[in-house]
Amino acid sequence: MLAARFTQCGSPSQVLAIEDRPTPIPEDGEVRVRMLASPINPSDLLYIQGIYGQEPALPATPGFEGVGVVETGDGLFGRLLVGRRVCVLNRAGGNWAEQVVLPARQVIPLSSRLPIEQAATFFVNPMSAVAMVEEIHKVRRGEWLLQGAAGSSLGRMIIRLGRASGFRTCNVVRRPEQVDELRALGADEVVVFDATKQDPAQLVTEVRRRTGGTRCAIDPVGGVVGSAFTDCLTERGRLLVYGSLTELPICASPRTLIPSRISIEGFWLGPWMLGQSLPHRLRLVRRVSRLIQQGVLASDISESFPLTEIRRAVEAAVEPHRDGKILLRMDQPRSC
Ligand SMILES: NC(=O)c1ccc[n+]([C@@H]2O[C@H](COP(=O)([O-])OP(=O)(O)OC[C@H]3O[C@@H](n4cnc5c(N)ncnc54)[C@H](OP(=O)(O)O)[C@@H]3O)[C@@H](O)[C@H]2O)c1
Repeated sequence: MLAARFTQCGSPSQVLAIEDRPTPIPEDGEVRVRMLASPINPSDLLYIQGIYGQEPALPATPGFEGVGVVETGDGLFGRLLVGRRVCVLNRAGGNWAEQVVLPARQVIPLSSRLPIEQAATFFVNPMSAVAMVEEIHKVRRGEWLLQGAAGSSLGRMIIRLGRASGFRTCNVVRRPEQVDELRALGADEVVVFDATKQDPAQLVTEVRRRTGGTRCAIDPVGGVVGSAFTDCLTERGRLLVYGSLTELPICASPRTLIPSRISIEGFWLGPWMLGQSLPHRLRLVRRVSRLIQQGVLASDISESFPLTEIRRAVEAAVEPHRDGKILLRMDQPRSC
């Protein structure tokens, strides 16, 4: 079977190569999945560069999420899954391959009605949207949620979730051409802020003018944007930091944090999910599944590549100003 591998961390388009590997054999409690598709998420790219919160055991195959069909399984649960289409949550990475072996409890059976593109992107972004908005912030109807990088796949999901659930979104983007597009999705406010040209005080003034300040904020940008968000919060406001797109620190003044009792907190889906009880995790999966089928948490796919074109695929994924995810397809004919 073919797999994308890297033997040293570095720029994804330089260190990744396709290798022919032996078919993996499942052991106790494991299943072997024939992969159909897997997205290229920012977390995969950070992992290959060696700057994700988790060290790769080299040589390694990336790919944390995706969809496939269970071929063989060990144990009762594993055997019950044979033939089922499943969401593959590979915490150790490994989904950018034609076949993958992992614990049976790390796959989620999916409806065959779900299009392959939505099945491949079933978990990471949709579940993060629900976890941050509904479970942690518990954003109320009519309340404002402030978010950075609002034009990202996850940002767009949150805008549609706001429209469907009745909370209002104040969305910060760096490109003016995204304003109309995000408004059409249901964004209540869109603020354009280019950190390379504008003063962060302008961002704070603009957010406060439009919302009056917000209790809830989420940000994957960091640096100037994440720092300015701390000045947009109201009494007991909370900023969830869930990405490091600029790789720059967030700075906040104690004079802002102390009197208003503002908190800044990191969010990481994997550990958060492990902290939930099994019945609650199942409820969350049902909620996400429903919202994807309604289109609220659907992902836009900008381009698909066969696994054998891994280098072109990762180059496309790091292009700025791309609208939608890049998908690797393992169910398409090999190009070499
Ligand atoms: N913590 C967690 O558990 C968790 C879970 C899911 C996702 N995430 C994070 O969520 C973020 C979004 O993920 P995604 O899959 O939705 O991403 P995506 O669709 O690939 O979109 C990336 C977005 O980031 C923007 N961006 C890139 N560099 C930027 C910069 N320096 N300043 C401002 N904006 C910048 C891009 O804007 P342009 O369109 O203008 O290029 C684009 O809108 C990522 O950081 C990802 O790691 C974290």
